[in-house]
Amino acid sequence: MLSPVIAIILVILSTTVLVLRHKRLRTLPPGPPGWPIIGNLFDIHQESPWIAYSNWSKTYGDIVLLRVLGTPMLIVSSADIALELMDKRSVIYSSRPTFIMDEMTGWGFNLALIPYGQRWRNLRRKVHEHFHQIVTSRYRNKQTKHVHAFLCQCLNSPERQFNYKLVHQLLATTIMDIVYGIEIKDMDDDYIKNVVESLEVFGEIKQPGKYWVNYMPFLRYIPQWVPGNTSAKYAAHSRPVVEEMVNRPFNAVQDGEQTSNDCVAVSMLAKIELQPDIEKRKEEETYAKHATGILYAETTFSLLQAFFCGMAMSPDIQQRAQQELESVVGPERLPTYDDQDRLPYVQAIFMECLRWMTTAPLGGSHSVTQDDYYNGYFIPSGTIIIPNAWHMLHNPEEYPEPDKFNPDRFIKDGMINPAIRDPTTIAFGFGRRICPGRHFAKDTAFLVIASILHTFDVKPSIDENGHELDPTPQLRGSAVSFPSPLNYRLISRSEAAEKLVRATEL
Ligand code: HEM
Ligand SMILES: *[C@@H]1O[C@H](CO)[C@@H](O)[C@H](O)[C@H]1NC(C)=O
Ligand SMILES: *[C@@H]1O[C@H](CO)[C@@H](O)[C@H](O)[C@H]1NC(C)=O
Repeated sequence: MLSPVIAIILVILSTTVLVLRHKRLRTLPPGPPGWPIIGNLFDIHQESPWIAYSNWSKTYGDIVLLRVLGTPMLIVSSADIALELMDKRSVIYSSRPTFIMDEMTGWGFNLALIPYGQRWRNLRRKVHEHFHQIVTSRYRNKQTKHVHAFLCQCLNSPERQFNYKLVHQLLATTIMDIVYGIEIKDMDDDYIKNVVESLEVFGEIKQPGKYWVNYMPFLRYIPQWVPGNTSAKYAAHSRPVVEEMVNRPFNAVQDGEQTSNDCVAVSMLAKIELQPDIEKRKEEETYAKHATGILYAETTFSLLQAFFCGMAMSPDIQQRAQQELESVVGPERLPTYDDQDRLPYVQAIFMECLRWMTTAPLGGSHSVTQDDYYNGYFIPSGTIIIPNAWHMLHNPEEYPEPDKFNPDRFIKDGMINPAIRDPTTIAFGFGRRICPGRHFAKDTAFLVIASILHTFDVKPSIDENGHELDPTPQLRGSAVSFPSPLNYRLISRSEAAEKLVRATEL
């Protein structure tokens, strides 16, 4: 029999070893020191947070850990690490942090916000069915029709300063037509006003650190009569607006009020009709509603604004693109999707816009559903992963002089250079959560960029005294960001170009 003393020594030794091993394995990634309890709450910058995060990566390295009210947040600044975690280890890196304000304001239906699991999978499948690469090419006729209408409106836009609302209108009319078969006249349309209001709510609740209830959910039980504009009040006021955005257009299609039957909602409904089980049918209907309710993406607006600003800043780049269009498309017609593969410079411009003014500078937050280790560092379950896409796309080793708008960085011997990392592999997110609208967004952007360059010159706008304004923009915002200011105007390139545009009205 083992003597009790030896037994005790053995127990002490083994626990010490265990504790030590434990300690060694549980080294957390480095990061700025925070306050007790609130942690780094005051370090989360509301304006241009990607710059502050980018600065930290210079001090602490490619992964930086913050704590906000107890929740660990990992800022990832390297594309390779982002791919290693969110793509290769996607089984445990594909959830989302949930915030109670999403649900309270009615935004919880949104695919982008749903945690990993069966509900996310069902909804994602629905969206994918209607927006994967092959299916999106079916929408090209409608896309073309709306882009041509946009060109006509551009001819009538004020001469000194472009009316950028036309771009909003183009995207809104296109998506409402393709998704609901509903025709939108202009931005005063009630459907659109409702979408704009709902997006304002979204922007409001997504400001990091603004609503404490997101970090301390018990705050939601503070009654509404407590003085001050509490989260509960804001949510109660916003919820009907957001619900209307989801319900109204879909209900209109169910009532047969759409003007075109060639649309996503009609084809979803046709499939639901075949479901004999009433319970299942109701469930399917809810999924369809939620899948169609999210497709108005402001990110495309931001991308197109980057394009216009970039062109106004660099007449020589614009000219090169126009020469490419002249030789491939010629003066007798407008560009079409069939020209796409023969227009590498136009494609390089798209890639550069996506990189230069990163519209989702911090990508999408993922959350980890299991304890994990990376490079010796412990990443606890529940950690929020924030990819700093802006930093990755402004890495001077991959993109020299990263702040410069320069599509030529992607071109070699007149073709796209495969040795340069394609910004679409970063800007649309990672792994199982990668943007399902990316093919659609790319299609929209291609035709707008090619058609505008073929028929218009983009120039800096001018003030009342005829002086050119500086068209160089700054990236502003947080989750979705926009170039600003928008100092550009469009001038028809020639009478022949104007005729081409006017001919589409017939
Ligand atoms: C330039 C245009 C666009 C950019 C830069 C962009 C970028 C992104 C990014 C970064 C994410 C997060 C991915 C992740 O978490 O890793 C995302 C998600 C998403 N995007 Fe886009 N997007 C664009 C256009 C669109 C369009 C046109 C649609 C709809 C037709 C769309 C629908 C979605 C949806 C539904 C999600 C959530 C997916 C999920 O959580 O499973 N996006 N997008
Ligand atoms: C980031 O670093 C730059 C240069 O060191 C500095 O000018 C800037 O103020 C910093 N920005 C933030 C938000 O920390
Ligand atoms: C609360 O604030 C929001 C904007 O933050 C505003 O739209 C809303 O009307 C306010 N509600 C009340 C009850 O004051």
